[in-house]
Amino acid sequence: MSTDPAGTPGPPLVIVSTESGLARSVAEQVSKRLDNRAEQPVDVVVSSPAELTDVEVRRRTRRNSRVVWIRPDDHGAQQEHAADLAVLSTAANAIVEFDRSGPNGVESAADDIAAMLGDNGDLSTPAYVERQMVFGDGRHTDIVVGHGAAQRLKDFIPDRCRRVAVVSQSGIDVELDCGVEQRTFEVPQGETAKRLDVVGDLTSQFAQWGMTRADIVVAVGGGVVTDLGGFVAATYHRGIPVIHVATTLLGQIDAAIGGKCGVNLPEGKNLVGAFWQPLAVLCEIDALDTLPTREFTSGMGELAKYHFLGGGHLDRLPLTPRVARSAAIKADVVTGDEREGGRRAVLNYGHTLAHALETAGDYELRHGEAVGIGLIYAAELAQRLGRIDAERVAEHRRVVRGYGLSTEIPDGYDLDLLVELFARDKKALDGITFVLDGPNGVEVVAVDDRSLLRETLDAVV
Ligand SMILES: NC(=O)c1ccc[n+]([C@@H]2O[C@H](COP(=O)([O-])OP(=O)(O)OC[C@H]3O[C@@H](n4cnc5c(N)ncnc54)[C@H](O)[C@@H]3O)[C@@H](O)[C@H]2O)c1
Ligand SMILES: [Zn+2]
Repeated sequence: MSTDPAGTPGPPLVIVSTESGLARSVAEQVSKRLDNRAEQPVDVVVSSPAELTDVEVRRRTRRNSRVVWIRPDDHGAQQEHAADLAVLSTAANAIVEFDRSGPNGVESAADDIAAMLGDNGDLSTPAYVERQMVFGDGRHTDIVVGHGAAQRLKDFIPDRCRRVAVVSQSGIDVELDCGVEQRTFEVPQGETAKRLDVVGDLTSQFAQWGMTRADIVVAVGGGVVTDLGGFVAATYHRGIPVIHVATTLLGQIDAAIGGKCGVNLPEGKNLVGAFWQPLAVLCEIDALDTLPTREFTSGMGELAKYHFLGGGHLDRLPLTPRVARSAAIKADVVTGDEREGGRRAVLNYGHTLAHALETAGDYELRHGEAVGIGLIYAAELAQRLGRIDAERVAEHRRVVRGYGLSTEIPDGYDLDLLVELFARDKKALDGITFVLDGPNGVEVVAVDDRSLLRETLDAVV
């Protein structure tokens, strides 16, 4: 507990839930428990997602108090709560599950909170989680995840660097101090920013500014910016170092990690690219406060994937450790298979249907939304192949819904066309392959029974 003299109130405890009645009942019970303790008094306050929607209010609340999210175990049943989920995920220092079917749900949630306060007076999640990816030839990438991770930038800029080219987009509000001369180069919004002429423009501007081989690129943004910034760094002067400051959930757990970078051609996505490992990946959790809900939810689709790649109950962790754990899984898979010969394929769990949906729907679905549906489809297929049981399929549905994602293909998709597209997936080297769950975990499986593939689609409409 804090060493403040008894009588000085500690930071307030904010109890928040999508159900205001539930938050109030738990807060009442927590107050009772805390009143009986001799330690520092604690103000117990009730809040709601609506009160925390404003970014500044949310940041202040998170900084100045301890925010506990009471999450009903069936909270995923209502998908319209995606906006609330984004607010609560970014606000909460801790998550307590509320067992709606159990007799003592409120009591036990209050017990859990009181116990947390006893174990760890400030209830804060670790500010940073750090780890290092080490590649066979000694290259390494530092990964830092946390509130304020971007402020660590200076620690990773090489001594000989004189200029930092910050590549970013408008609307991304992350302050950076590189400690040396820096200049920001803004690139266009959206997937179309990943174009060869944008690479040409950027590199010309670097040359005019006098950037040398000793200087570096810092890409600040989502996957579009890190794919583009990484590729520019990989090719300017035959390769200069890059650091990624990942500001979308998808970027933090996926795109910024692993060294794949590149741009699109009119003929297809990511057709020109390189493997170029960043010196560091800084996953700025504060940035997620301003991410539009749909982008946040899309990132949740990739998060759901990691649950089945050995992540365990990631959905029960607060955001910082949840992102850190997912980033670590990707890092481990990549360091074992940097150039995508084998194991790296498991990262495509849920992606065969996702890619087909993106193509058939002309990218109407965000990537992670498509992955969420793809995970359900992969589970249904695995069950039909006798690889997993109904309970495991139900777990897929629970996890995907719990992240605010749909488990169904929206109206208007031609299901026969989707099966055609499976065969054209660029990862389909020999016939149609899927990444499927099974007794040995997630692995690549060839599935050539097209009528089974088509029938299984009926389970996700
Ligand atoms: N290299 C890889 O291994 C890899 C893996 C997965 C995806 N990708 C690529 O990533 C791209 C998708 O990335 P994405 O989903 O991050 O989309 P994105 O980069 O387009 O970002 C989504 C939107 O959010 C905005 N944004 C970013 N950070 C913000 C913030 N903190 N606050 C407010 N707005 C913010 C962006 O400006 C953009 O408008 C695709 O091009 C995909 O091919 C690459
Ligand atoms: Zn993906």
